[in-house]
Amino acid sequence: MKPTPIAASIVDQVIDEFGIHPAGKATIRELVKIVNDIEKITGEEYIRMEMGVPGLDPTFVGTEAEMIALRQGVASKYPNIEGIASLKEEAARFIRLFLDVDVEPRHCVPTVGSMMGGMAAFMVVNRSDHNRTGTLFLDPGFPVQKQQCLVLGHQYGSFDLYDYRGDKLHDKMVEEIEKGHYSSILYSNPNNPSWICLTEKELQIIGEIAEKYDVTVIEDLAYFGMDFRKDLSQPGVPPFQPTVARYTSNYLLLISSSKAFSYAGQRIGMMIISPGIFERHYPDLKRYYSSEKFGHAMVYGALYSLSAGATHTAQHALAAIFRAVNDGTYNYVEEVREYGEKAAVMKALFKQYGFRIVYDMDLDEPIADGFYFTLSYPGFEGSRLVEELLYYGISAISLEITGSTRTEGLRACVSQVRRDQFPVLEERLKRFYEHHPIPE
Ligand SMILES: Cc1ncc(COP(=O)(O)O)c(C=O)c1O
Repeated sequence: MKPTPIAASIVDQVIDEFGIHPAGKATIRELVKIVNDIEKITGEEYIRMEMGVPGLDPTFVGTEAEMIALRQGVASKYPNIEGIASLKEEAARFIRLFLDVDVEPRHCVPTVGSMMGGMAAFMVVNRSDHNRTGTLFLDPGFPVQKQQCLVLGHQYGSFDLYDYRGDKLHDKMVEEIEKGHYSSILYSNPNNPSWICLTEKELQIIGEIAEKYDVTVIEDLAYFGMDFRKDLSQPGVPPFQPTVARYTSNYLLLISSSKAFSYAGQRIGMMIISPGIFERHYPDLKRYYSSEKFGHAMVYGALYSLSAGATHTAQHALAAIFRAVNDGTYNYVEEVREYGEKAAVMKALFKQYGFRIVYDMDLDEPIADGFYFTLSYPGFEGSRLVEELLYYGISAISLEITGSTRTEGLRACVSQVRRDQFPVLEERLKRFYEHHPIPE
């Protein structure tokens, strides 16, 4: 046995106690626990790439607004479940200025993170027609959204988007929609974990299919504006964040504050309900909700039963952040660009020591540098690779749990890795490479 950067006996002991073999089969939060335990016993710091936690300070305008609201006493008051007026107004303005799409404040509703936005979306969309149930996921994706479908008892299907880019997307989607009887389609753009960015043409295909088959698109914009190849940061100035909302009126948008504004801890996001479906009547909703109107069922049925609204102070924070971004006094993209810059360095290091980028192309361009990238190493399955890297002080998750067909791969998240850890990362990768020679 060659000595590994982290004592193998301790890694073995923690994995055995946890009882998941190989450890790469574990969920994100389980891996977090495994790595925390190893770090605690060994005192050695890992290169932590398993979880998408923002690695930046929270947006200052948000925390300031939140503290002012707290001092003004909002903590004792239930927030309006539809959202406070200033947040709704600034959110609608944000959608106009950064997506070039028109919505009214009433179409913008706060959620306890996009996590809850997804849950509420499934609870209403997937119950709007008794002949249909469930979601078609354009994978790879964020594993917990499938967990949400499972706990709700909804069906789901998926295919790996990477194999059906461009014009090929149309026929594959039609095939899946026709056999699946789905109520909704969900994808994230930019995509977690592959960092594929769907093009306007692909979004048009999705939009046209949504219209034709009357399927609602749940567009997850958790990484809003973070395709750093384009400058999406100027209010009211093209290019805009690509969105399906320009191609169909059958959509819900999930806007997260977690990554774009480094506000994950306060659990605040926005659901934007298309004006086209907000007032629409779906008689089958009456099975679960007091109203058959989509917007009403969403707010007074789903969101009410989940948490009766989103935290009052966090709503003030997000209103202030949107206002600053809309006014052009705060450029959020400039701050998060750091992720892309770190990704470029980290990808180069991994490649130097024998790793490959799994999702390496975005149509005819190399995949952009962003919040995540994907990796493989010759001779390894993804979950085994995740486990093996634990001995080298590096943590990531297997692509297998993301619905990817690339089971040899893993997902690496750049956010928590500090630049001062790059030399340690290089040292550990070098050892890994020496211990796992690649056949010529
Ligand atoms: C694709 C995707 N959707 C949703 C979320 C959850 O966002 P929030 O923190 O707003 O609940 C994440 C978080 O990692 C994500 O990657």
